Amino acid sequence: MVGMLRRVYLDNNATTPVLPEVFEAMRPYFGEHFGNASSIHHHGQETRSAVERARDSVASLLGCQAAEIVFTSGGTEGDNLAIAGLTSPGDHIITSTIEHHAVLHACKHSEETGCEVTYVPVDSRSLVNPDEVRRALRPNTKLISIMTANNETGVLQPVEEIGTIAAEAEVYFHTDAVQAAGKVPIDVQRIGCDALSISGHKIHAPQGVGALYVRKGTHLHPLFYGGRHERSRRAGTENVPGIVGLGKAAELAMQGFKRGDHEKMSALRDRLQKGILAQVEAAGVNGDGAPRVPNTANIYFDHIEGESILISLDLKGLAVSTGAACSSGAIEPSHVLIAMGLRADRARASIRFSLGKQNTDEDTDIALALVPETVARLRELSPACKGV
Ligand SMILES: Cc1ncc(COP(=O)(O)O)c(C=O)c1O
Repeated sequence: MVGMLRRVYLDNNATTPVLPEVFEAMRPYFGEHFGNASSIHHHGQETRSAVERARDSVASLLGCQAAEIVFTSGGTEGDNLAIAGLTSPGDHIITSTIEHHAVLHACKHSEETGCEVTYVPVDSRSLVNPDEVRRALRPNTKLISIMTANNETGVLQPVEEIGTIAAEAEVYFHTDAVQAAGKVPIDVQRIGCDALSISGHKIHAPQGVGALYVRKGTHLHPLFYGGRHERSRRAGTENVPGIVGLGKAAELAMQGFKRGDHEKMSALRDRLQKGILAQVEAAGVNGDGAPRVPNTANIYFDHIEGESILISLDLKGLAVSTGAACSSGAIEPSHVLIAMGLRADRARASIRFSLGKQNTDEDTDIALALVPETVARLRELSPACKGV
């Protein structure tokens, strides 16, 4: 009898499975509790209070007041809302070369509509230097947008220092914390940001829901015009089941921090990383030496295409990524790895392993058995790596 392929999912920076507790919390809001949260009657009141409970939970996760949370459709909307909502034509924006496309393309659009944008570089570990941010300030700088954690390398940026620079210069500071939320504790007061975006599907809530923290008193132009939902900051009937799921995922993330789950996660990631590096030559960690979220290891395997490794591993049941999910399949190497100064061939030879709450020691064992043998086989086939 042919055995079932055991599938191991190590691509949690692309998306995470909805946790059973999250799904159970959402379930009644697809049926029994179906009201429009803006309706005055019983059905509306029921869903309104569920939305407000979720707002409290998300606010606790981020260390802010509930009224400062705007529910969105995800990280992309939060990033766009912050960038377009906090700037006007003629303003100058400072961002970095390693941001997610949700920020980079929103900034490109702002350039087309009359803003000026400075893209500060990063060092070889993918770290933004706060001094570069300070040097980029101009009299018309309105906004700094620098991510908390990078989606490809997992590297944590010096956001608290950047927050201080923004406060001293009296400019807005937005941080894309989509890959940091649920992985490291976040406190908007400590970061000193005016806006911070998170996404449900990166923290075991469903796809298509997220939140933007907007500091009280901050004037934000909306992206959408319509009803007065979300205190006129985001028009549109609330996605009640999604919001309830996000609230539950936020609660579970906070419980996880208390239990020390992130330490267990980094032990698992470190075992995976060390095990791979011990067995594979001409491989290394992108972003090594910089502080990182506990779940990510981005590793290059010289002389082979990351795409070939990804496909071979997928055939054996192991799901990994060559970088940002949205650029998978594209021929260009990752803009993040190139910005760090990697040669294009090394950037193309890189694989991102990202763990989630559902991963176990056994998953790591399976990955440790599959990755070295797959790399060795592909290198045997590759004329470029004779002598490796
Ligand atoms: C750093 C970062 N920002 C923004 C996004 C976009 O979030 P969403 O998929 O919820 O639109 C992602 C998703 O990959 C991300 O990793």
